[in-house]
Amino acid sequence: MIPEQKVREVLDRTSIVEVVSEYVQLRRSGANFLGLCPFHSEKTPSFNVNPAREIFHCFGCGTGGNAFSFVMKMEGLSFPEAVKSLARKAGVEIEERLLTPSEKHAQDERQILLRINDIALDYYRTVLKQKPEAATARSYLDRRNAAGAVAEAYGLGFASDRRDDLVKHLKAQGVDLEVASKLGIVRKNEGGWYDLFRNRLIFPIRAPKGDVIAFAGRVLDDSLPKYINSPESPLYHKSSVLFGLDLALPAVRTEKSIVIVEGYFDHLALYRAGILNVAATCGTALTPDHISLLKRHVSKVYSLFDSDAAGRKATIRSMELFLEQRVPTYVISLPEGEDPDSFLENNSLEAFRVCQEKARPAFEFFVRTVLSQIPADSIDSKIRIVDELIPRFRKIIDPLERELYEKEICRLLGISSHAFRKRLGGLSVTVRDLSNSPASHEHIGDTRQETLLALMWRHAEARSEVYSIGVEKLFAGSYLTLASLMLQEIKGDVDAQELSHFLEKAEAPELKVILSRLFVSDGHLADVSWREVFDSCQRGREEKAIRFSNKDIAARLAVLEPGSEEYAALLQQADLLRTRKSKL
Ligand code: UTP
Ligand code: MN
Repeated sequence: MIPEQKVREVLDRTSIVEVVSEYVQLRRSGANFLGLCPFHSEKTPSFNVNPAREIFHCFGCGTGGNAFSFVMKMEGLSFPEAVKSLARKAGVEIEERLLTPSEKHAQDERQILLRINDIALDYYRTVLKQKPEAATARSYLDRRNAAGAVAEAYGLGFASDRRDDLVKHLKAQGVDLEVASKLGIVRKNEGGWYDLFRNRLIFPIRAPKGDVIAFAGRVLDDSLPKYINSPESPLYHKSSVLFGLDLALPAVRTEKSIVIVEGYFDHLALYRAGILNVAATCGTALTPDHISLLKRHVSKVYSLFDSDAAGRKATIRSMELFLEQRVPTYVISLPEGEDPDSFLENNSLEAFRVCQEKARPAFEFFVRTVLSQIPADSIDSKIRIVDELIPRFRKIIDPLERELYEKEICRLLGISSHAFRKRLGGLSVTVRDLSNSPASHEHIGDTRQETLLALMWRHAEARSEVYSIGVEKLFAGSYLTLASLMLQEIKGDVDAQELSHFLEKAEAPELKVILSRLFVSDGHLADVSWREVFDSCQRGREEKAIRFSNKDIAARLAVLEPGSEEYAALLQQADLLRTRKSKL
């Protein structure tokens, strides 16, 4: 613990401009200094340092804070480490407060427990390397390309099948078994002390600095459970530990990014292939604690879960947490059914790099996953998709990112941002909202014509009314073609399948598409009055006609001599049109 007053002193004696300048080239810009953000890649500077307030903020990636935050993020340090590092530079001496008795006790216990884990690990490693009973384990590792240097780097070991080998070893080393049992690696029942791990390959799980805090044990065959892990202990909290982070840290610091995988063997596969900035969860889903830990070291996360349904679910779940904590996350997708281990077994590192380059932002991955599960082919399904997206969309904090995703969602679904925002605000969305696509052509975007066309199918009366007023008074473009076709082909009441035949009559693919889209789910039209839609279509066409002639008039006026007879006549005509339009 560094006393608070010391922390203040360090900050007072530190100039953030100086600190930042060691990493970023800054130039004065008004009251602030400006530079290229070291936490995300950018070409125009949005990284601001305010020397008066001693703070920085990047408007590009949203990172900000004081000198401590900067050093923590830049160097991947913890808070006390950052304070100490700046204290040295500022010439502030920090002598740490003496520990309270209970803190001292906890620290001593921690040291003892770590020591026990070290003894256990040494033992497991020796067994793997030397003992005849580990022969199957050695050949298993060979088969999985994890023998030799790989096994050494990770410190892999083997636990024999006997009941109490580790117990005996710890005893011989003078370890108090009661204390060791706090780590869960040895246990006691009526029969006496026994080992947790039996006949399993041993993976040491380490804290970022390399201390062994727990173990995972894998069977060598298909029996279950495949893995067992050390239980929670004073050393080990699985929800905040990432396997392999200790090995990855140097690369993580230089690359400022990390690949997160699910399995121990996936970690091995990537690390061995040369992707060193990788860590794995230890049999749990990612938690907010994991993300806080990662945030200290990286400005970008790649999530690489198995390419199956469970993996996609885990990806989306973790995306929510990353969004909440504003960590930019990209999803690496491997071919269906592959995990990183199997992929690298059959493909080169370059092939993997290609997948990594193609990684998509997590939210985009999410949108695409939802769209692949629910095809956006009817109004109902569009509403379902939007409802699926919205709770996660709300978690996007960055306004720019929000706007971009809103656009993308609306484009993919062919809906207006008005409709999307209404739903986002908890309002119900009408048919009109959803079919009013901003991206589509003039005639496709016309909901009135579209609805009238759909109602003509349902109501013979509507068809005869359209026929008598003249189909071209109500429809334009593709809708005109379809309405005419309908009048020509369809007589009297029609049954449901008739539509598929009608679809064939509309030869052009784009016409077929309009029809299938219109009719695939038109239950919402049951209670719509065709007469109202008819009237509104008629008004719409008339309005449009006036708008066009107004445009013509304006164009003519621009080239005529003001005051001429023709000019005056045109003005009069424009007036007339305006009154007609206001009456519509
Ligand atoms: P996997 O089954 O994908 O394991 O589970 P893996 O590490 O890739 O191992 P191989 O390739 O089949 O040998 C992914 C992770 O889930 C946890 C472990 O952390 C594992 O690495 N897990 C899995 C357990 O904790 N217990 C289990 O029984 C299974
Ligand atoms: Mn696997």
